Amino acid sequence: MHGTDVSFAEEAEVEAEEEAEAEEEVEEEDTAQAAGDPLAGLSKNGRKRLLKASQLESRKAKRKEEKSKRKQARREKAAALASEGATVQAPSAAAAHQEAVDAASEAPAEREDPWAMWKRFGCPKFVLAPMVNQSELAFRLLARRHGAHLTYTPMLHSTRFAAEEGYRLENFDYHPQDRPLVAQFCGDNPATLLAAARLAQDHCDAIDLNCGCPQGIARRGHYGAFLLDEPELIEDIVRTLVGGLRIPVFVKMRVLPQLERTLSLVKRLEAAGCSLLTIHGRTREQKTSCAADWALLATIKRSVTRMPVVANGGVEQPEDLERCLAATGCDAVMTSEAALENPSMLAGVPTSRGGQAAVTREYIALARAHPPRAVAVLKAHLFKLLFLALEANRDLRDRLGAVMSAEEVFQIGLETCEREEAAAREHPEEMNARCDIEGAPFTSWYRRHRNSPLQTAEQIAAQPPRPFSDRTLFGDDAY
Ligand SMILES: Cc1cc2nc3c(=O)[nH]c(=O)nc-3n(C[C@H](O)[C@H](O)[C@H](O)COP(=O)(O)O)c2cc1C
Repeated sequence: MHGTDVSFAEEAEVEAEEEAEAEEEVEEEDTAQAAGDPLAGLSKNGRKRLLKASQLESRKAKRKEEKSKRKQARREKAAALASEGATVQAPSAAAAHQEAVDAASEAPAEREDPWAMWKRFGCPKFVLAPMVNQSELAFRLLARRHGAHLTYTPMLHSTRFAAEEGYRLENFDYHPQDRPLVAQFCGDNPATLLAAARLAQDHCDAIDLNCGCPQGIARRGHYGAFLLDEPELIEDIVRTLVGGLRIPVFVKMRVLPQLERTLSLVKRLEAAGCSLLTIHGRTREQKTSCAADWALLATIKRSVTRMPVVANGGVEQPEDLERCLAATGCDAVMTSEAALENPSMLAGVPTSRGGQAAVTREYIALARAHPPRAVAVLKAHLFKLLFLALEANRDLRDRLGAVMSAEEVFQIGLETCEREEAAAREHPEEMNARCDIEGAPFTSWYRRHRNSPLQTAEQIAAQPPRPFSDRTLFGDDAY
């Protein structure tokens, strides 16, 4: 990634909405002109406008229908929650704050030992990352089928989560088959984060604090990796959460430019009661511009004894999962982008153009059963799952880009799968060839903006796991 980090995804969505609105404005203008021009039906341009106007009407109707379907789904979900006796009130900011203060002053329950928790979670090895707009319930269930042992919700905004029931219903999906589940929050106010986490804790197994988002939106909002400059604040947040919650508290962060600062922060987290650390082997400034430093992660892991450590960053090929574990000595490995394109990589299946149809069909079935919060989420998944197919079928790619309803997205997705299945029957060798190795016939989505060299299949097979690094010094000049 990180063209695609947290806020990229958000900004892309906002951009897409703005584009759609702008397009709509132009179309509305055209429509008005067409309506006022009695000759519109006779001229070529007029005919075009009339056509556009009717298209606009049908798109608007579809959008309305989608919106009302989503509203209905939310209402049903609220009713289901209410019948479980789990209805959450939408507190005002002041009420949320008061609730948090009350909670924090309650005697903290005895904290479960992090290693006992890890065992209770089944000692997960492969973790699906939190991903804005992409680690929704349907995708999490898909990833689990293919080998993910632990999953994270997309990042949730604590302020909105604490105050808006609508936000919670739309953004926090959970299911008994998707456990253990970690709900990830961003924010900078301990009381607000606690209020939000308390509203989630009955439906997940741990709360994670996002200290990794490196994007401008996180700088403006004062959250994510921009908290890393304020270790006291992070410690305060973790202490408040640990003191007020019944479930464990995790932190996901990036490495800092100096090893000493990273280690000092990790010590603070341990002391504050953090139960698990996920660490991304790139700094905030590096985003995804370079390879993740697994040797550095190894050094950090060696300094942490009181809680499990999850390594993150740089997993592309299925073999990388075990290689990362061996190289870092971490307890588990978290992946995002590679799994987005090919969830079955978690089960050891390399990305191939021919392999994508089956997993896409599976996703579509799950997304029909558990509709994501927006059509944009579906589209974003299909653009990745079917990246190779859509590169070869530009007509389908354009149509997928233009459609507005979930059903149309599904139909185009299934049509693409049919074409790919036919192509696989005709050219099995090319279609089933690995696309995540050097010399691949097609370039995977994962590699679209990466310059790092790929390995050949022979190199992968011949390679022993990277030795566990003994590196203890990581100087400033490395950044
Ligand atoms: C689409 C997308 C959305 C993401 N959203 C989040 C998020 O909500 N919270 C978070 O901590 N990281 C988020 N990330 C970062 C990933 O969790 C992960 O740290 C990063 O992609 C590095 O892992 P990778 O090398 O396996 O891709 C996102 C990444 C992607 C690709």
